[in-house]
This record gives sequence, structure tokens and C-alpha cells, in this order.
Amino acid sequence: MRTIEWKDGTVVIIDQTKLPNETVWVKIADYKAMASAIKDMKLRGAPLIGVAAAYGLALTAFHSKAKTREELQKELEESTEVLRKTRPTAVNLFWAIDRVMKKARDTAGSKEALAEAVVTEAQRMADEDVEINRKIGKHGAELIKDGDVVLTHCNAGSLATVDYGTALGVVRAAIEEGKNVKVIACETRPRLQGARLTCYELMRDNIPVTLISDTMVGYVMSRGMVDKVVVGADRIVRDAVLNKIGTYNVAVLAFEHGIPFFVAAPMSTMDQSRTSEDTIIEERNSQEVTNVGSERIAPEGVKVLNPAFDITPLEYVDAVITEQGILVPEVHLKQKRKN
Ligand code: MRU
Repeated sequence: MRTIEWKDGTVVIIDQTKLPNETVWVKIADYKAMASAIKDMKLRGAPLIGVAAAYGLALTAFHSKAKTREELQKELEESTEVLRKTRPTAVNLFWAIDRVMKKARDTAGSKEALAEAVVTEAQRMADEDVEINRKIGKHGAELIKDGDVVLTHCNAGSLATVDYGTALGVVRAAIEEGKNVKVIACETRPRLQGARLTCYELMRDNIPVTLISDTMVGYVMSRGMVDKVVVGADRIVRDAVLNKIGTYNVAVLAFEHGIPFFVAAPMSTMDQSRTSEDTIIEERNSQEVTNVGSERIAPEGVKVLNPAFDITPLEYVDAVITEQGILVPEVHLKQKRKN
């Protein structure tokens, strides 16, 4: 079941804010609605955000009333401005927009040829995402042993991608190879992607999952209940992995307990032009922290901090699992400390 689909000039997505209680499919008609869906997290997860932005541009191209190629090109540029402002941390958003716009520039011919090229490119990116995740899964499965318990944080599953998932793709691939694998899912405050989405999709696929609150990670690791950690990424810079807030805590605890910490991500999540010093960590609405669902749990007027992502130095990362294979970070504190 795909998380996002192109259907006769609209894009259909699952509204992830409603999961797991309701499975609601929403039709997205234009790039503005797509930008809102990304910003409001109706869809989320770095690879899915990228494909969604590409589809946002496809909607502009498909419905354009432009009379000339230049006019359409201008409409596309205007759409990119809005889409780029939705969420700053996941590099896949910018990668996808740049890829579609390059395709548009490189396509010769009429306005119609340009529109078709943009729609085709977006669809190709959606199909490629699934193939890439399967490759990530296949490589990552080599690192998972029969009987392993894998702890994951946030949702890096089929709901964060077009299908199959990155971190959860590794689990799926290991199970498809006949290995017995169980998952521990951190709830992932404040948006609860672990509790709501990871548990939902794993239970749907009959993959054993146990939910814990984020505060229980140290306990389960110290009790020998975790064999490996596999998480996704929103951006991998030269010195660090940017992923959902709380990932850094998990990485440090994994390090202290000698538990391998793996990051599963497509090459499109790599941003080797930057270090963690020059990336933007998204700050979200304070209500995500002061409330649980619609219920307020903190006093009115309290000061709140709500960074949506954190920074895990590569020294805590044993390997990055990509579609091209398993990459081991050069700077490896673990190794240095051992020597
Ligand atoms: O804020 P979200 O839900 O978009 O954050 C998602 C994550 O942090 C994922 O771990 C990451 O995007 C990788 S998804 C394959």
C-alpha cells in the first residue's frame, strides 16, 4: 500500500495526523495544498516529503493554463518558493525540488513537453523511492541476526516513504529473509510518530512491536533487551546525522551499552556540503509540547522549547545503510576510544 499516489491529476495521501484511529485519504489538488500538507505534517518523513514536493510541482505543471513555456517555467519557480518554505531540515525536500527543476530546464520543446516531463519525473521519483528502500533493506538485513530485537525511534517506515521504509525496511527485509526480528518503538514525543505510526504499520504487517516511552530507552538497554538500533535520517552532513528529536539520546545510550547504532537512509539524504554548524533545526509550535493531543498538560504561559530534530555526531554511528551499500563513518570515536 503506497502512502502517496498520483491519480488523474490529483495526489492522494493518507492524512497521518489522523492515524492510527482513522485511515483518511485526502486529495491534494495544487501545490499550495501540498505545501500545507507538508507543513501541517499530514505527510512527513524525509523521503516522503521529497516525493510530495515533486508531486506538488507536477500538479502545477499538469493544471497550468500558461500560454508559453516561459510562463509555465515561472509558475514552477513560484511553486518552488512556497514548497521550499515548508520544513527546513529534511534535505530530501530541496533535493527533490532541484531534481524536478533541473529536469524542467533540461527538457527541450513546447510547454506541453515541459509539463509532461515534470509529471513523469515526479512519478519516477516515487517509483525509485520504493526500489531504493528495498535495496537499503537488503543491505541492512546483513547487519541483523536471527532473534534480534531492534529499537527504533520516530517513524522511518512505509509511512515516511512511498512504501517499505528505510529503518523499518531493514526490519522487513530481515524478516523476509526468514529471520525472527522484534521491534521496540520509542513513542517519540511530542508528535508521537513512534506510538502512532510505527506501531500502526508494524502491527498492520504482523511484525512484533513493543511500545515504550522515550524515557525508557536507558532501562531497556541496561536490561539487555536491545540488540541493535536502526533509525532514519533527515539530513546526513559531514560530521553528524540530523534526525527526529530524541535520536541523540538513543545514540549516546546505545554507545554506553555497546549496542550497534545504525542509520538507514537513501543517498538523497546526504548533504556533504555542510556540517552540523550550518544546518537549520526546525522549531515547531509550542503547543506540541504543552499539550498531549488536544489536552493541555503544562501551565498557561510556560516557556517552551520545541526543536523537531537533533544532531547525532557521526562518532556514535556505527554504519549508514544506503541503497549503495553500508558506509562506515570515517571519524569513529568508538574506535578511537577503544585504541
Ligand atoms: O518530523 P518528521 O515526522 O517528518 O520526522 C521524521 C524523521 O525524523 C524520520 O526519522 C526521518 O525523516 C527519516 S524517514 C525515512
